[in-house]
Amino acid sequence: SGPALDDRALAGRHVVVSAGGTREPLDPVRFLGNRSSGRQGVALAKAALERGARVTLVAGPIEVPPPDGADVVRVESALQMREAMTVAAKDADVVVMAAAVADFRPAQVAEHKIKKSADADDAPVVTLVRNPDILAGLVASRRAGQVVVGFAAETGDETGSALRHATAKLARKGCDLLVLNDVAAGKVFGKDDTEVTLLSADGTVTPVPAGTKETVAGAIWEAVVPLLVP
Ligand code: CTP
Ligand code: CA
Repeated sequence: SGPALDDRALAGRHVVVSAGGTREPLDPVRFLGNRSSGRQGVALAKAALERGARVTLVAGPIEVPPPDGADVVRVESALQMREAMTVAAKDADVVVMAAAVADFRPAQVAEHKIKKSADADDAPVVTLVRNPDILAGLVASRRAGQVVVGFAAETGDETGSALRHATAKLARKGCDLLVLNDVAAGKVFGKDDTEVTLLSADGTVTPVPAGTKETVAGAIWEAVVPLLVP
């Protein structure tokens, strides 16, 4: 294999990838969720395995099977994902937050299934609270030399372009690399093709040509490998 796809580029490295959405419980049978398919995170895990890494995949609900060879940790809520990521990140060389983490969770989880009352007009009000920012926490507690990668799905709006929002997010989160999905075209979620821009902490902006999530995963690893300490 040539330099474009070095099949040993991640040999000896432990890579931790989160994938999928989260489910925030309301009661024992109900949750608030999102439409993340987990495809990009799974593609990243697979591409890391192909490059020789040991891979831990922390997976919320995902619509695709995890790749053979990955250590899979199944989670549902953001709080569970934070716990699993914190444990897995301890000896990791690279941590990638590809998951779509719910920003909010129900403030209370009912112990029993929520029942309707006799009053036909009565409906519960669900109060939400903020979830912790897993990525920011991983950055704050990262070990020396560990590379931390975040994702951002942004749309341009009256306050700025998607790129501008992503640049601010990269600085806010403090990660080494941010993978920007411009979702204005209504693409990305559950789709096979994707187009991303890679933003590095040093200010480098690298557009990645449109391709499958597998192709894009390869491009992301190509950007990560030079950031690893030898
Ligand atoms: N993320 C996280 N924990 C959260 C929310 C997001 O780790 N509670 C991670 C995502 O996995 C992603 C990155 O942060 O890698 C950016 O997520 P995004 O939703 O774009 O950013 P937020 O900080 O949640 O900001 P907002 O949704 O308000 O744009
Ligand atoms: Ca968010």
